[in-house]
Amino acid sequence: MHTTSIVDLLRRQPVGETVTISGWVRTRRDSGSFSFLEINDGSCLANLQLIAEEQLVNYASEVKKLTTGCSLRAHGLLVASPAKGQTVEVRAERIEVIGWADPETYPLQKKRHSFEFLRSIAHLRPRTNALGAVARVRSALSFAIHRFFHEHGFLQVHTPVITTSDCEGAGEMFTVTALEPGQLQGPDPFNNDFFGRRAGLTVSGQLQAEIFALSHGRVYTFGPTFRAEHSNTSRHLAEFWMLEPEMAFCDLAGNRDVAESLIKFLVCVALDECGEDLALFDQHVAKGLIDKLTQVRDRPFVHLPYTDAVTELQRAGRQFEFPVQWGIDLQAEHERFLCEEVAQAPVVVTNYPADIKPFYMRLDDDGRTVAAMDILVAGIGELIGGSQREERYEVLAARMAAAGLDLAQYGWYLDLRRYGSVPHSGFGLGFERLVQFVTGMQNIRDVIPFPRTPGSAPC
Ligand code: 4AD
Ligand code: MG
Repeated sequence: MHTTSIVDLLRRQPVGETVTISGWVRTRRDSGSFSFLEINDGSCLANLQLIAEEQLVNYASEVKKLTTGCSLRAHGLLVASPAKGQTVEVRAERIEVIGWADPETYPLQKKRHSFEFLRSIAHLRPRTNALGAVARVRSALSFAIHRFFHEHGFLQVHTPVITTSDCEGAGEMFTVTALEPGQLQGPDPFNNDFFGRRAGLTVSGQLQAEIFALSHGRVYTFGPTFRAEHSNTSRHLAEFWMLEPEMAFCDLAGNRDVAESLIKFLVCVALDECGEDLALFDQHVAKGLIDKLTQVRDRPFVHLPYTDAVTELQRAGRQFEFPVQWGIDLQAEHERFLCEEVAQAPVVVTNYPADIKPFYMRLDDDGRTVAAMDILVAGIGELIGGSQREERYEVLAARMAAAGLDLAQYGWYLDLRRYGSVPHSGFGLGFERLVQFVTGMQNIRDVIPFPRTPGSAPC
């Protein structure tokens, strides 16, 4: 039997055809000599209604015992539906129960569950409306990212997960060690390393992407990155996905243009292709979400040098938890204030103080700021961090030495400036923060299938 997905049936509406669907029961309602079953298969938010009459051979023995979470395959005629809220339904000719779900123990019942509770059942939560919708939006955005860069002539580079370079220099690398069998469960076994060298899990693929930008021009990498930061917030994970384009012959303004058109493109894709899921978030998670996204699509971003951003914050007449003065790293409260109160649009803050940014950012002519850019959005704060890179050998070597880096270990990175150096730029977009922004989900743990945070119980 060839199974058709529910999304395909609802799109094509082949009324009068015999179809086979496979999915999980959301609800069963009995009415006299027949039952209505709402079936979901994850292909879309909508359920398909299945009408089961008592003539079915297993009606009394099985169909009337179906409960939320049971899996089945059904075969029947697709007909126009007289009921409100749906256009078609299936009149079942055969229902094959595939898996039972004991209602006494199955944790997902018809009521709404809190996101916090759902985090405790990471293996079952994709079956809920909200987490199912997040997974679809996430997949659509991931695919759209590859499409965007493919259409703009970028080369995709697979950068390594295991590395000996700490791109951000913030001391947030997890180390990699070899474990003997059974050591995962035993006492602290961390006495091995990476074949005799110290190595860690990458915090960013940027440095390796730079290598390929300086051979192929325009490249991007998109993969998991890791930060051993102990921050327990709604926008930090220890393992998150980052998109990092890197472009040769490109300055900060060119970098900003790519980032802006990327964000607008991704918002368009979400609005065009994920309308049903976004409507769910708009109704139940973040009121006004679709209007907000439409404005992001249609309005220009605001450009604000760091120094002006500090002035705006000082002028705000508001007591921030973290006091504002030139030289501070902007905190989430400042970032959100800038785009929610000052600009009412995404804000690109540029030219941050050199002292608070990593060694690779290009030093500005004033000698105290760098050609950095962060893109801040409402509800989240920093969505993108990037910069023009320091392409001048002497300046870079001096900054690396000042940052305490072992220049011998970064000889390859300096070589890129020794041989055929060019101005180049790039940025990193936190993919989970993008999914949060597009869905309005409050907690970053709910937009990644398997969150890794301090205290999380991995499955
Ligand atoms: O600003 P970050 O640290 O920049 C870099 O890593 C650069 N090397 C990127 C580049 O220029 N190629 O991180 C980039 C973005 C942030 O703006 C944020 O969206 C996200 O990655 N991010 C995190 N997302 C979730 N959890 C964390 N712990 C994150 N840390 C950064
Ligand atoms: Mg940053």
